[in-house]
Amino acid sequence: MRLFVIGANGRTGTEIIDLARMRGHEITAFVRSPQKLAAATSVRVVQGDPRRSESIVAALPGHDAVLSAIGPPPREAFRPSTLVADCARATVEAMAVTGVTRLAIVSAAILFPEKGLYFAFFRWLTKHHARDLLAMESIVKSTGLAWTIARPPRLTKSADASFRALRDGLPPGSRAMSFRSVAAFMLDAVELRSHVAEIVGLGAAS
Ligand SMILES: NC(=O)c1ccc[n+]([C@@H]2O[C@H](COP(=O)([O-])OP(=O)(O)OC[C@H]3O[C@@H](n4cnc5c(N)ncnc54)[C@H](OP(=O)(O)O)[C@@H]3O)[C@@H](O)[C@H]2O)c1
Repeated sequence: MRLFVIGANGRTGTEIIDLARMRGHEITAFVRSPQKLAAATSVRVVQGDPRRSESIVAALPGHDAVLSAIGPPPREAFRPSTLVADCARATVEAMAVTGVTRLAIVSAAILFPEKGLYFAFFRWLTKHHARDLLAMESIVKSTGLAWTIARPPRLTKSADASFRALRDGLPPGSRAMSFRSVAAFMLDAVELRSHVAEIVGLGAAS
């Protein structure tokens, strides 16, 4: 498939690129900072601004799917921001213009109404980011696109790419999983055209 990856040099984005290359896809890495992306053959790197639809439109025609893993830098994660929603708005506008219809996008498990101190603490800690993610989800859901929203828990670096996926809920006991597993879920979803128009809670496989 011809895949267009937004946020390609982030922690989730680099795992998407790596797995997509291993699976033999043609990849466009759309990034604002190409110098951060390790050189890789079979990846076309395009510099652009994911908050501007014109910037995306210039590079998007001809792709089969968009995978998006935008997030604020750590120092900005606890402040009010509209970054993720702004990028989603630009992405869906660009998709409408170019006729690309498949979108897989990363959100977060904090949006599930899980009970208990653990979730209450993280919801409080990330309340500004959660508001941005909720706005992003609402933009994505209001389109006629074939979207999939992934809501993973806390992410860690690991070579494990296994996952559990549950529509509209967090898999039981899900607290953390790897960036690579989120990438595997997103790639599976676009390859198999599964989880269309679904919000999917993710967890580690065991
Ligand atoms: N990390 C976790 O534990 C976790 C858990 C659950 C859900 N999530 C969700 O997963 C998503 C991705 O997380 P991540 O940890 O993979 O993120 P990350 O490593 O911080 O990467 C974020 C990506 O967004 C890009 N970006 C940030 N600000 C930008 C801006 N102003 N303009 C253009 N691009 C910008 C970055 O590009 P540059 O490199 O150019 O800055 C990078 O490619 C987030 O939305 C987060 O809510 C993360």
